[in-house]
Amino acid sequence: MPSGTRLFLGLSILASSLVSTKAVTYTLSQDLSGDKFFDGFKFNESAIDSNNFGNVHFLSQSAAQAANLSFVDSNGRVILKVDNTTNGAGDPSFGRNTIYLESNELMNIGSLLIFDANHIPFGCSVWPSLFTQGQVWPQQGEIDVIEQVNLATENRYSLHVGVDNCNQPISVASNQTGTISTANGDISNCTVTPTTGQNTVGCVTTETKSNSFGSGFASQGGGVYAMLWDESGIAMWYFARGSVPSDIGTSASPDPTTWGEASAWYPASGCNPSTAFGPQIITLYIDICGAFAGVDSVFAQTCSSVAPNCTSLVPDPSNYDNAYWEINYLRVYTNGQSNSSSSSASGSGTSSGSGASSTGSSSSSSGSSNSAFALAVTSIWDYLLIPVSASFLGMLAIL
Ligand SMILES: *[C@@H]1O[C@H](CO)[C@@H](O)[C@H](O)[C@H]1NC(C)=O
Ligand SMILES: *[C@@H]1O[C@H](CO)[C@@H](O)[C@H](O)[C@H]1NC(C)=O
Ligand SMILES: *[C@@H]1O[C@H](CO)[C@@H](O)[C@H](O)[C@H]1NC(C)=O
Ligand SMILES: *[C@@H]1O[C@H](CO)[C@@H](O)[C@H](O)[C@H]1NC(C)=O
Ligand SMILES: *[C@@H]1O[C@H](CO)[C@@H](O)[C@H](O)[C@H]1NC(C)=O
Ligand SMILES: *[C@@H]1O[C@H](CO)[C@@H](O)[C@H](O)[C@H]1NC(C)=O
Ligand SMILES: *[C@@H]1O[C@H](CO)[C@@H](O)[C@H](O)[C@H]1NC(C)=O
Repeated sequence: MPSGTRLFLGLSILASSLVSTKAVTYTLSQDLSGDKFFDGFKFNESAIDSNNFGNVHFLSQSAAQAANLSFVDSNGRVILKVDNTTNGAGDPSFGRNTIYLESNELMNIGSLLIFDANHIPFGCSVWPSLFTQGQVWPQQGEIDVIEQVNLATENRYSLHVGVDNCNQPISVASNQTGTISTANGDISNCTVTPTTGQNTVGCVTTETKSNSFGSGFASQGGGVYAMLWDESGIAMWYFARGSVPSDIGTSASPDPTTWGEASAWYPASGCNPSTAFGPQIITLYIDICGAFAGVDSVFAQTCSSVAPNCTSLVPDPSNYDNAYWEINYLRVYTNGQSNSSSSSASGSGTSSGSGASSTGSSSSSSGSSNSAFALAVTSIWDYLLIPVSASFLGMLAIL
């Protein structure tokens, strides 16, 4: 006991000095841009979900290339778009050709995703998303980085999970710049019940910085979205082109601790980032109408002056001239942290051991013994902090 206490004190002093400088090093694990972008993804022509998706046909890679829906433009940027040449007038079941991409590699906890784009699809009836999802939904969770519809101008962030007790405490309002849009009492509930379709919206935080979606995003020259998923929780940032932190796109190891408050922050105290999520498939698509853009009340919010309903827009190809992604790059960095919940039993007594041993399996990322040691300490530090903040929140709830 006494030696454990001394170890604890020594480690916490060391941990706080490391945390306050730079405890975690990120190493590039996927760098997808230009022609190489397409090596990182498969086109899923069978991603059909009649309850969710609208008036679309997702194409195979060869069909999308032949139809000029996916290509690299003369500036080296990746274009992914909806067909805006086919006239569907007179066909009552007309569905427009578009794309649904899923990454070949799974993203693990301890990852930082950075996405730099000049244009996000928009327009009445258009529903784009950049998100990650587990291989089993919703049991392995979903993280929505970019998702909005129609002529909205502010992005929405959300989580969708299958486990119970995954929420965003409304107390994070002071730790994020975005606004919680799905508050219910003192939480925003991230748990979905797939059999009943309850709470499919998840726990939504809405961006408050301007031009995070729509024509304004494109006219300012685009910007960058970032998502950090580690044992402390899930954080997401949006930066307009003129406000991108200097280490993004330039540094071999960007440092999110220097970027300021995130737009959306889902701390581990509300939702366990190890057990609510499995390894994630990065997903990029453009849908039309369906269970979000096509909902009459949602459609009317920004498009009531354009058309009486969503589906009436689909046959006219000129409605889709802005329905395209223009992507500079998508990068994934890892911090070498592995899933400590999967090794041995959980519990405070053994967690420091599993945190330390987890760095042993991270040899693929950083070879530096300094960063491996920093990671081990950070893992222990995280374990000590999480129960404290959880019980502190519990006390606040009682008061
Ligand atoms: C395509 O999506 C469907 C439906 O979501 C899924 O069942 C299937 O596994 C996916 N195919 C590939 C190749 O990922
Ligand atoms: C594909 O579309 C782009 C812009 O939409 C255009 O510049 C290009 O010429 C088209 N390529 C082909 C082969 O049609
Ligand atoms: C919010 O930020 C404060 C001050 O940095 C910190 O003490 C607290 O732990 C944070 N809370 C959450 C839930 O992240
Ligand atoms: C969150 O939503 C799920 C699904 O509707 C429900 O089962 C659960 O009880 C809710 N949790 C809270 C704390 O309200
Ligand atoms: C972490 O491990 C737990 C327990 O085995 C598992 O349920 C979860 O899916 C894993 N999460 C990740 C991100 O690998
Ligand atoms: C949508 O609007 C069109 C044009 O007014 C109308 O013909 C069609 O019946 C409407 N569809 C639905 C599903 O309400
Ligand atoms: C389709 O959209 C692209 C990209 O916005 C645009 O360059 C092109 O002119 C449009 N095609 C037609 C036939 O309008």
